[in-house]
Amino acid sequence: MDPFGGSGVTAIEAFLENRTGIQNDINPLANFIARGIVNLTEGSISDYCRSLTEIGDSCEKKIKRIDSLSDEDIRRVIRSVNLPPNTRLPGNSDVQYYHDLFTWKQLASLAILKEAIDRLRDAPSRNAMLLAWSATLTKLNRTFLSARGRAPSRGGSSIFSIYRYKVAKMPIELPCWDTFYERASNVIDAKAEMDKLIELKRQTVGWSGRFEEYSLDIEELSDRFIGSVDYVFTDPPYGGNISYLDLSTLWNVWLDSCPSEEIRKKELIVGGELKIKEEDYIQRLYDSIRACLRMLKINRWCSVVFQHWNIDYFKAILSAGEAEGGELKAAVSQVGDPIWSMHKKKNRERVLSGEMILTFLKSEKKPVPRRRGSFDLEGTIKRLLDTHRESNIYGEYLFNRVIIEAWENSSIENINISKHDFIDILNNMGWRYDSRRHYWIKNQSEERMLFDL
Ligand SMILES: C[S@@+](CC[C@H](N)C(=O)[O-])C[C@H]1O[C@@H](n2cnc3c(N)ncnc32)[C@H](O)[C@@H]1O
Repeated sequence: MDPFGGSGVTAIEAFLENRTGIQNDINPLANFIARGIVNLTEGSISDYCRSLTEIGDSCEKKIKRIDSLSDEDIRRVIRSVNLPPNTRLPGNSDVQYYHDLFTWKQLASLAILKEAIDRLRDAPSRNAMLLAWSATLTKLNRTFLSARGRAPSRGGSSIFSIYRYKVAKMPIELPCWDTFYERASNVIDAKAEMDKLIELKRQTVGWSGRFEEYSLDIEELSDRFIGSVDYVFTDPPYGGNISYLDLSTLWNVWLDSCPSEEIRKKELIVGGELKIKEEDYIQRLYDSIRACLRMLKINRWCSVVFQHWNIDYFKAILSAGEAEGGELKAAVSQVGDPIWSMHKKKNRERVLSGEMILTFLKSEKKPVPRRRGSFDLEGTIKRLLDTHRESNIYGEYLFNRVIIEAWENSSIENINISKHDFIDILNNMGWRYDSRRHYWIKNQSEERMLFDL
């Protein structure tokens, strides 16, 4: 089960491993994607290909012609198609209304394409093509930015890089039909891969994979699944940076699946359009992790993926696990990913990248109340660095080790460290940040530096 399932990786992988994968997310877009992928196991590849041809026959030429139309003609096309409502966007967007996220050509082409897909009679193919259309929408809007010197299609939306609707000064207009065709081909390839996997299972151990989908707030979900889940693997929102619901407006509006105000209030987040306070987030994070543990059977496991500079967030997760009988059995840092985000590249040592996976085993033992211990922050960092066998270390790994040591010594209450303190301590101990490889290195000796010169 993944109660914060997002696009569904956990539940889909469980499903493909012959288990019952349970996907939950309050964001309708998340479930649209997860369900859309699982449903690719329905229908046949030949039906999907036939449907793609049918869509092409009905609108490829029309869409390609849009490029050469005058503004007035495009406006006429726009008046003849079904457009999504022109909803107001979140306050931090560059434009106020939904339609302003598109050029007229994009709006007209996407609408024509969607109408052709909606007319398909074969439900599994319609689902697959709608998935491809939603991936086309990701690329055909004015938030799509491309770096100078790169192929335009290699760009990405500002939604994924700076987490808001920033519109490009010079929008890139990718060809709608070709973009959709490529996405649809990818979807068909994904279906072929899933069909093959399932067939292999059928011929060997038998196929029993199941997928369940819920769109409940985590508290409500836990009431339904109390004491009945074998494994929870989850990646809750990390506080302030990303408002998943606001950022999904681009898709939810056109898919007619905008969440209600009541659901929006439940989003685990700091800030967002509803300006949720940090102390509320911490309390809700605590409650959510308790809810995860509550859903587990005894002697089963829960893994929580997390990363943040704010130690109070970790404190909430660790103490919630403990309060529900979860014993921390592993804390593994996922560091060294060679693909760095733009945030990491720009802000380097000030940004944590790569998560820590905290794994709890649920037992019936009652938690023993913790005594508050003291914590020597600099001494701990020094010891960890002195005993580190290599000459480089990822800051994320070191930071995570400090948190776990403090937790194990019952002294997490006593650490109060900001990213600046952490960076200063490392600098003062003679370590330097390598901005290309994004790890810290022990200062080279003076002779070595002279030799290098
Ligand atoms: C970090 S994302 C999960 C990403 C996911 N692991 C993936 O690979 O796509 C966190 C998710 O939690 C969802 N969420 C936020 N508050 C929630 C709540 N109260 N109940 C359930 N889901 C919530 C968000 O919509 C978002 O999709």
